[in-house]
Amino acid sequence: GRKKIIIAIDGPAASGKSTTARKVAGLMGYTYIDTGAMYRSVTLKVIESGMLDEVRRSPEKVEGLVKGISIAFEGDRVLLDGRDVSGEIRDNRVAREVSFISSLKPVRDALLVMQQELGRGRGVVMDGRDIGTVVFPDAELKIFLVADARERAKRRHLELQAKSPEGFGVPDLETLEAEIVERDRADALREHAPLKKHPDAKEIDTSRLNIEEQVAMVHDFAVQMEEGGR
Ligand code: CDP
Ligand code: CDP
Repeated sequence: GRKKIIIAIDGPAASGKSTTARKVAGLMGYTYIDTGAMYRSVTLKVIESGMLDEVRRSPEKVEGLVKGISIAFEGDRVLLDGRDVSGEIRDNRVAREVSFISSLKPVRDALLVMQQELGRGRGVVMDGRDIGTVVFPDAELKIFLVADARERAKRRHLELQAKSPEGFGVPDLETLEAEIVERDRADALREHAPLKKHPDAKEIDTSRLNIEEQVAMVHDFAVQMEEGGR
């Protein structure tokens, strides 16, 4: 029979990780784990606790907030300390702070343990920035998705417009692109677990692919790996 594998999907913002990961997981009968949602949840917790400025001044203060935090996945929903935060974690106010919060060692250490536990039985598709490099360097299939910054900004712009049809609070395309480029830069340059392609990862440029095409590419690789091929 087939062995269950771990599929690690990394790449910059809006490269198509989560849509690909969710669909490939569905096709394989695997569990999808969105680690970006975990970092976004911690960020929301810091913002809501009113501690953001204090954590900026003294980053070690974040430790008290991550200790005992509960992040759970229920179907498509994300529960932070038991509360459904699936919508709030996608707000741009969270996106603006998430790179800072995810650069902090106590945050990464806590989430690393949770993520490795979630993937223990294999049969998971996990997406993020450091899944192939740090969380599961032994993942059988590692994918690194990339796409042009302008194309990625357009994708996020469409999503934000769909959430707020009157356009209230939706940044213009140029602003969004600048924010995405800055977040990628911060994620790639940070000291702990930076965004980086693992040498064994298969790189796919999704700029000119539609979702069906990119899902088919990753799914084909996954089936080959499950069958023990290369
Ligand atoms: O969906 P989008 O690509 O905008 O971002 P995300 O996957 O939700 O991740 C949000 C942020 O969390 C990233 O910009 C990283 O700063 C951080 N992150 C991380 O550091 N490591 C991961 N494995 C996943 C996300
Ligand atoms: O998870 P990540 O931030 O890498 O990206 P995503 O949330 O999967 O994709 C960002 C947006 O781009 C979603 O609205 C996707 O539907 C869209 N997308 C697209 O239009 N064409 C692609 N080839 C890939 C994603």
